[in-house]
Order: sequence, then structure tokens, then C-alpha cells
Amino acid sequence: GITRHYDFDVQMAKVTRLCGSKSIVTVNGQFPGPELVAREGDRVHVRVTNHVSHNMSLHWHGIRQMQTGWADGPAYITQCPIQMGQTYVYKFTITGQRGTLWWHAHISWHRATVYGAIVILPKLGVPYPFAAPHKEVPVIFGEWWAADTEVVMSQALKVGGAPNISDAFTINGLPGPLYNCSAQDTFKLKVTPGKTYLLRLINAALNDELFFSVANHTLTVVEVDAVYVKPFTVKTIVISPGQTTNVLLTAKPVNPKANFYMSAAPYSVIRPGTFDNTTVAGILEYHEDPSSSSSFDKNLPLFKPMLPRFNDTKFVTNFTTKLRSLATTKYPAAVPQTVDKRFFFTIGLGTLPCPKNMTCQGPNGTQFAAAVNNVSLVLPTKALLQSHFTGLTTGVYASDFPAMPLSPFNYTGTPPNNTNVATGTKLLALPFNTSVELVMQDTSVLGIESHPLHLHGFNYFVVGQGFGNYDSAKDPAKFNLVDPVERNTVGVPAGGWVAIRFLADNPGVWFMHCHLEVHTTWGLRMAWLVHDGSKPNQKLLPPPSDMPKC
Ligand code: C2O
Repeated sequence: GITRHYDFDVQMAKVTRLCGSKSIVTVNGQFPGPELVAREGDRVHVRVTNHVSHNMSLHWHGIRQMQTGWADGPAYITQCPIQMGQTYVYKFTITGQRGTLWWHAHISWHRATVYGAIVILPKLGVPYPFAAPHKEVPVIFGEWWAADTEVVMSQALKVGGAPNISDAFTINGLPGPLYNCSAQDTFKLKVTPGKTYLLRLINAALNDELFFSVANHTLTVVEVDAVYVKPFTVKTIVISPGQTTNVLLTAKPVNPKANFYMSAAPYSVIRPGTFDNTTVAGILEYHEDPSSSSSFDKNLPLFKPMLPRFNDTKFVTNFTTKLRSLATTKYPAAVPQTVDKRFFFTIGLGTLPCPKNMTCQGPNGTQFAAAVNNVSLVLPTKALLQSHFTGLTTGVYASDFPAMPLSPFNYTGTPPNNTNVATGTKLLALPFNTSVELVMQDTSVLGIESHPLHLHGFNYFVVGQGFGNYDSAKDPAKFNLVDPVERNTVGVPAGGWVAIRFLADNPGVWFMHCHLEVHTTWGLRMAWLVHDGSKPNQKLLPPPSDMPKC
């Protein structure tokens, strides 16, 4: 592989959307940010200079970061933020991955405007396991607030309640024709009859899982989270925040002389009104001559896709159970067949007593919180990875994160009287190369919601999922240990559970959290500590000299 150099300058830029302008934090003044392209095996150096008055930190979502945990990016977990005027060069190698991933700010709510695609091409000369597409197009879903997103977040924290819902969804930063003043801000995809296009779908939205469909066309799913899957064809896909999905779209053989909406709208089991139930649309247009500059013809008929109902969990389950690893000799599924350590985590919302001098919007005047095993993680003031590396534990992390919920869990459908969670900053430590099985159970306390759980530094295999309470006597017999999907973010179903397996072969401190930003902020987050192995290639490398300081 070669080394790819990128300069990312974090700077403000003025952007007009939805009838108004505001200054947003960007990389290089671009929104969405620049696309990062590399091949499997390449080294990547991204020199990030912070020119804004906010602290910054960037995360390369889904990149394995073998031995390079210092480049992972979550603020106060693997690094201190890059302060104004400072530069930090993220250096990592892309090992064993090819497909679509993405990068985003990993501090506060800055990822609302600071994000972009990561395109990992196969090694030179290595074809895709499907027919080569005519063109490849990143399609990034986002969420747009008319207000400053930092203000939205701090308001939510101040009242201990839910943040204001976003004002629009976007495709590649564009809200599309269904929103006010936005017809000119519409993503358009020009296709030529008979050609096949690879859409690199990325859900960069903050708080919403999405359905996506293209009117009168089908989508063939070929890869998720930079891992190939057994191809299958659907009309609509489901994508959670943090997830990426590559689909093939084949244009009709003969110019249909029509335009087609490409639409995305949220999947949520909580009632509309408490989330943004609007729809973003892009437009698929046909052009016989791909070089033609002829523009969108609005006199042609326009077709709209039928998206599932906002709470169609059946549809979602049906979609996710279709996802299978390719599991061929060339692309084997390295599912751990034996387990060294089993964990059971509860995932869900809860409450904290309302701090004095605040009026809280949680039940009975409490403050909303969210927790893993009933512990709501409080970010430390020094990065956990640095503390670990220098042997510092006092006042940083005192003891182990509980391997089991603090109180036994049995979901009955009625929330418990006491919904309070504990707070803490603790790591769950694993010896190098531990084979882990983790069952994550949604508690459905204070709202039934699916939680897209993202693990940094690893891919895991989704070996099982179900509804109701996980049954450790019966459910493991149904686990798929042959071709389960391999990914970095999975939706823990609302009122259900998901079982994952991974091999802890990457030393460092690895964040795991719900990728709904509001839940992360409320504390639905924890971190694993994977110790060094004995061989040189099993140790965390020393921190780079330009590592930011707190
Ligand atoms: Cu994409 Cu910890 O995040």
C-alpha cells in the first residue's frame, strides 16, 4: 500500500438551507466534508488543524485501527480534544477492510455538520465480488437544524429533557423539494439507461434510523459496514445512524422519460411528533448521453416511492435478518466458534435526580439519562487511553464496569418504580485475544426504542436477535455461527435483544455507545480496555508526539 495524505482544516463556513443562513463548523469549508479515498492496505495520514473556537476531534467510524488506538478519535476516550490553533495528524493503516465507512466529529454534537464518506477500494487488481458498477456515488443522510446544533444540545442538557427535533433530513447536505425554500437544494443523480450504479449509503443522521427507497427501482444490497454480504434485492432498505450500506441500482434498459424520487424517512416506534417524521427526497433523472449538461425536466412525470410506516418493526426485522456474511473461501466469516467470556448488558433509558437550579423534563421532574448495565458513563477530564497507557487509574477509572446489570432485569412491559441509574467512569477489561459473546437487551424503560450500538476498534458478528427477554437456556441454540453479518453498528431491537461475538485482538481502550446522539449524551456509553498481548504486533504502539493534551 501507499500513504495517502489529507489536510483537514476545521473552519467555519456560511451555509444557506431551509430559507435561512447560518455559520457551521466544517472541514475545508465543505458540507458534507471531503471524501477520503484509499485502498485496502494503504496508510492514511490526515493532518487536522483546528481553526475554530470549539474543541475538535475526528473519528474514522468503522476503521479497525489495529494497534493505533491513538488515532480513533472519541474525545476523552482515546484522546484529548484538538484545541483552537492546534494540529494533530491521525495516522492509521487500512487492514482487511474494503467498502464504505465514514468519518465524523466525535465531540459534543459537532458531527451534525462535520462528517464525510470514507471510500475503501479493494487492493489494486482485486475485483468486487459483483459485476463492476458503471459509477459509484456516496449518498450521505444527515439531519439539519435551523438553530445552532450546539445550542440544541446544551438546551436539552439544561432542561434534562429531549432535544428539539431536527428541521430536515438531508441527502449529501441537501434537504430536497419537500421542504420550504429547498427545491434548488436537491440531490440529483443522473443515470444512463441500462447502467448499474453503486450507491454508498451512509446514515450520518444524529437521532434517526431511516428507510430509503427509490421509486420504481430495486436496490441490491452487497455490503454493509465495509464487509461484503450475500447479495439480496429489496425495494426499501433500513439504515441506522453509524451504519453504511452499499447497494447496486440498475437503471431501466430504456429511458422511461420520467423522474423518480429517492426518499428517506425515519423508522421509530415512538409516536411521530416526538421525532422528525418528514421526508428527504433526491431525484433520479435519466440521460441518454451521460456527458449531456441538459438539466432536470420537470415536465416529465414524477414517481414517488412508498416507504414503510414509521413504526414498521416487522419490516425492519425482516430486512435485518436478510443480512448474511458472504462467507466464501475468499471472504470467510471468522465467527468465533468458542467463547471465553460471556456478558449480558442492559441498554436503555433511565433517570437521574434533577440537579439543583435546573427544571427537568424527565418523569416526575427527573433528568433523563441513559445507561449500559444501569451505569451512565460520565466522560473523564483526561483521555482514558492516555490514563491507561501511563498507568494512571486514581480518579480516572477506579474499578471495573459491572459485567452484569446492577439489578436483575426482567421486562414485563411495565416500567419499574425506580428508574434511577448510577453514574461512573469505569472500563471493562479483557485479556488480549479474548473471545467475547455479548448479549444486549433493550430495557424499554421510559420508551421503547431501538438502539444502534456501535463498537469502536472491532467488527462483530451478529449471531442472534429476538424480542422479549433473552433466554440464556433456549436462545443460544438458534445462534448463526456460519454466516452471520459482520459489522460495527447494530440496532438492538426495541423491546428485544441482540447477541454479538468478537475477538478482542486489538489492544487499547474502545468506546461502545448508542449512535443516537441524544442517547450517547445521556450516558448510553461504556468502554472496553483490551490489554496488550505478548508479541510485538499485539501491543498498543506508543502515542504520537503531537497527541493533544487536555
Ligand atoms: Cu460513529 Cu463513537 O462513533
